[in-house]
Amino acid sequence: MPLSHRGQIPAFVVMEVAKAAVELERAGRRVFHMEVGQPSTPAPATVRAAAARALEKDILGYTLATGVPKLRARIAEHYRQVHGIEISPERIVVTTGSSGGFLLAFLAAFDGRAKVAIAAPGYPCYRNILGALDVEVIAVPCGPETHYQLTPALIEEAARLHGGLDGVIVASPSNPTGSIIDAATMKALADYCRAANLTLISDEIYQGLQYGEAPVSAAALDENAIVLNSFSKYFSMTGWRIGWMVVPPDLLRGVERLAQNFFISAPTLSQLGAIAAFDATEELDGHLRRYRDNRDLVLAALPALGINQFAPPDGAFYVYADVSHLTDDSVRFCSDLLAATGVAVTPGVDFDRERGHRTVRISYATDTASVAEAMERMKAFCAETVG
Ligand SMILES: Cc1ncc(COP(=O)(O)O)c(C=O)c1O
Repeated sequence: MPLSHRGQIPAFVVMEVAKAAVELERAGRRVFHMEVGQPSTPAPATVRAAAARALEKDILGYTLATGVPKLRARIAEHYRQVHGIEISPERIVVTTGSSGGFLLAFLAAFDGRAKVAIAAPGYPCYRNILGALDVEVIAVPCGPETHYQLTPALIEEAARLHGGLDGVIVASPSNPTGSIIDAATMKALADYCRAANLTLISDEIYQGLQYGEAPVSAAALDENAIVLNSFSKYFSMTGWRIGWMVVPPDLLRGVERLAQNFFISAPTLSQLGAIAAFDATEELDGHLRRYRDNRDLVLAALPALGINQFAPPDGAFYVYADVSHLTDDSVRFCSDLLAATGVAVTPGVDFDRERGHRTVRISYATDTASVAEAMERMKAFCAETVG
């Protein structure tokens, strides 16, 4: 039976590396998971307790497609507390992870053949989901000159080269680089998109995980920006598949209808648990302290690996590093590294098809002892590769 062109969507390479790592683990090898971008901790205790209570007492049926009112209100409160802005709970739509949110956002904002600019390196699923929806993706090479982020000038140039654009996706902090868009640039991006009539989509799922200045939310700058967020990263709830969007007023009814049809509702147990995630700041900030220690460990180890070019790891839990002194085939490099040392990292090609053959992404979300051991193993492997 022929597979549709949508079924030919490229793999999410991170998950392919994770699959190989798990197979190695099954074969009895010790594996250091520095490939997948997920916390190595469970959901906060408050969430687990709330979910346990809900399991006992709640029938856990469908909710409204936009989510449980109490959760939407609590998320709006979060914007008041963290960003000092008023967002009506009506504009919050609870989603099945931000991944579910992307589908809703892209379907609501773009028709087939629309053109959307993304940064390269960037999160691969933007490109892959948009591609499956017949949206043309313009991957704009970004480097140290622009903090590995899109700027109004780069967007303008992309629009000129490609005969106009319909939308732009930014992520701050970004995956794979961890770089953060500073407040002035974010405002300039929002102003530019408004003036040029471009839909601005801001992926803010790593917010809360920052090691210096906190990133601004596009929700504070323009009510027409579509903002995506998630309980997966800072809140340590990847498998609960729960996230949210802040939706522009004009798109609300469309997003609601799409959510009704595509998902009916986000998982009810996860929604009821997520309400309690906002009461777990102490526990979650403990994770952030560990990520900071891990980040320091990785950064201190890089020179001994011969790595001196990497994106500014302002936030998230990644270091995106240039390994061109070691390889021009990052897929092969990662697979050899895994086989030889048990250390799983992700090849850059997933994030940047053009230049990612010479880069890798190291995720340091795991425990500190594993990060330390993995860096030692990488040191020995890189010394041998160079030697
Ligand atoms: C930048 C970015 N956005 C979105 C996602 C999807 O996360 P989720 O669907 O768990 O919210 C990820 C996952 O790694 C990511 O790195």
